[in-house]
Amino acid sequence: MQFDERCRIQLDALRQAGRAVILAIETSCDETAAAVIRDGRTIMSNVVSTQIPLHARYGGVVPEIASRAHVEAINTVVKCALDDAGLRLQDIDAIAVTNGPGLVGALLIGVSTAKALAFAAAKPLVAVHHMDAHISAAYLAYADLAPPFLCLTVSGGHTALTEVVDYGVVRTLGATLDDAAGEAFDKAARVLGLPYPGGSALDQLAESGNPRALTLPRAKTPNLFDFSFSGLKTAFIQLERKGALANITKEDAAASYRAAVVDMLADKTLRAAESTGHTTVVVAGGAAANRGLRTRLERETAARGLRLCMPPISLCTDNAAMVGAAAYYSIITGKATGSLTLNAEPTRSL
Ligand code: KG4
Ligand code: ZN
Repeated sequence: MQFDERCRIQLDALRQAGRAVILAIETSCDETAAAVIRDGRTIMSNVVSTQIPLHARYGGVVPEIASRAHVEAINTVVKCALDDAGLRLQDIDAIAVTNGPGLVGALLIGVSTAKALAFAAAKPLVAVHHMDAHISAAYLAYADLAPPFLCLTVSGGHTALTEVVDYGVVRTLGATLDDAAGEAFDKAARVLGLPYPGGSALDQLAESGNPRALTLPRAKTPNLFDFSFSGLKTAFIQLERKGALANITKEDAAASYRAAVVDMLADKTLRAAESTGHTTVVVAGGAAANRGLRTRLERETAARGLRLCMPPISLCTDNAAMVGAAAYYSIITGKATGSLTLNAEPTRSL
């Protein structure tokens, strides 16, 4: 039987059974990751090999270096994920992979690996959207979480406020008009002389700084739920050029900048919860690791009686466990279709 036809039959059987052990692969940017997830909720293994030290000397991700590093790591990472789960490839029900958005060369390594494994082991293949994966990380951390809910997704490449109306189905309320939140943190970190990706280091410095040391702008956007960070970034760079940052500590500069980003993210999220009536707020993506954002949202959602779901940091930054969770719901809702013609889609929309 042809691969695609068998894949359809296998996925249908998994949908009807409601059960699936999924081997998931993620290579969209600078982490080579593989995980084994049972029934969309249980992490049997979760292996991440980061390339950050390779890119740090260039101040950002170098796509060719990322692709090469993925090629070198992928087989070992997949083997580790299977070993940690105590399973062999034959024991897996489906193979999932992020096929976009992301860096095309990086995505292709994951997609080619997943296709080869699926073909060799006669397993169905499931393509996952990277943002759907970030959102689905919350299903791993909160066993009872189910749509609908409001989701703030803040990563190195995306920033969006969405209503998750069903598994894998989102309605976008707003998105960034320029930089992503993670990018905005990383660029300010660079101004402060912190190594790439500086978001986490800036966050660390901000913990002991004065958030009112600098006056920085909070952008207003025509659509209330859109975001814009370029004005803030430019203001910060101008202050550095004028020497104003030399008069205060790095901690104070970091705290002031973080407060401006967090104000914009938190204000819009809370207003979106109010206007849509959602009582559950999920935060997803690498920049959800930001302690300033976490503390602020914890305080303000509690004051409004909202449920806040923020996965642990290891599930917020890129990983394959979240890909396995998204793939499970894609199978269960009958959306998953696997084909050996699957390709990387660097600009795939959700
Ligand atoms: O989701 P992610 O791992 O990769 C993408 O899909 O982009 O997000 C990475 C981004 C980077 O910009 C990184 O600096 C940022 O998340 N990030 C943080 C923190 N930890 C990671 N930004 C602010 N504060 C943090 N603690
Ligand atoms: Zn990501």
